[in-house]
Parts: sequence; structure tokens; C-alpha cells
Amino acid sequence: MLTQKKINYDLLAKTIFALTEAETDEVSLMATIVCEVYHSDDRFNWTGFYRVTGPEMLKIGPYQGAHGCLQIPFSRGVCGAAARTQRTQLVNDVDAFKGHIACSSSTRSELVLPVWNACGELIAVFDIDSDQPHAFIEEDSTEIARILKDVFMSNF
Ligand code: SME
Repeated sequence: MLTQKKINYDLLAKTIFALTEAETDEVSLMATIVCEVYHSDDRFNWTGFYRVTGPEMLKIGPYQGAHGCLQIPFSRGVCGAAARTQRTQLVNDVDAFKGHIACSSSTRSELVLPVWNACGELIAVFDIDSDQPHAFIEEDSTEIARILKDVFMSNF
């Protein structure tokens, strides 16, 4: 049985903004976001950041859920596609995404968003996985993008 969306994005945003107010440390901000998003909706069974650590390279940052792979080049996976294109990747069926990296065999759908800092530089991608197919809707993409923008582009 598929779990219905139960997330309240206004409450999630208010909670994250209150917890991160005036914080500028990126790791602290990421750790708070992965925790709050992970616990906000039963559809999500993995949340994490992959940070830009060098040319065309992502490395794992704060996450919640089972272990994630440590490094992802921009050329690979859904995360690499989000970093390479700097566009959100909403994947309804990971088996249909060429080059999907399966850190967990239970993942069925995925949402990955690019994360920029206040200077407009790509600093990371934010990855949310679900063990349900078609788990994500456009609202998830727009609301989470809004939170990421407000935290990483205005806390500084
Ligand atoms: N599925 C991602 C890799 C990260 S694991 O899901 C945590 C991808 O294809 O880039």
C-alpha cells in the first residue's frame, strides 16, 4: 500500500528556519535539513547531501537512512545529473533512469535538487529517496527548492 503525502511544508519550513536561524556553517545546515525532511514524511526513506568537493565530483555529506555511496562523479547517477545540469531530477522509476546508482536495492523513486550558495555557486545536491514508485510530486520539488534557497542563499 502506498503511503500518502503527509508533509506540511509550511510547518517544515518554519521549523527549519527556526532551527537554523543565523547559522552559517554549511554542515550544520545540511545536518538539520536532512533530519527534518527525513522525519517529515513516511514516503522518504533516505535524505542526504552530496557536496561539490572538486571539479565534477560529489562526496557524501550529512544524511539519514542506510549508508550511501561516498563519491559520485558528475557523469554518474541521478545526483550527477542534477549537478551536471543544475536542474532538479524528479525520477518516478529509478529502473528507467539510465545510470541510476542504487545505494539501496529498495529505492524505487528519487528527487534530487541542486543547491547553490548566496554567490550562485553550486555547493551540493540534495537527494531524497523513496521505496515507493512515483512517490514525488511537483509540490515536493518546488517547496523543498524554496527551503534550500532560503537557507543556503539567505543565511549568509
Ligand atoms: N541514487 C543516487 C545515489 C545516491 S544513493 O541513492 C544515496 C544516484 O543515482 O545518484
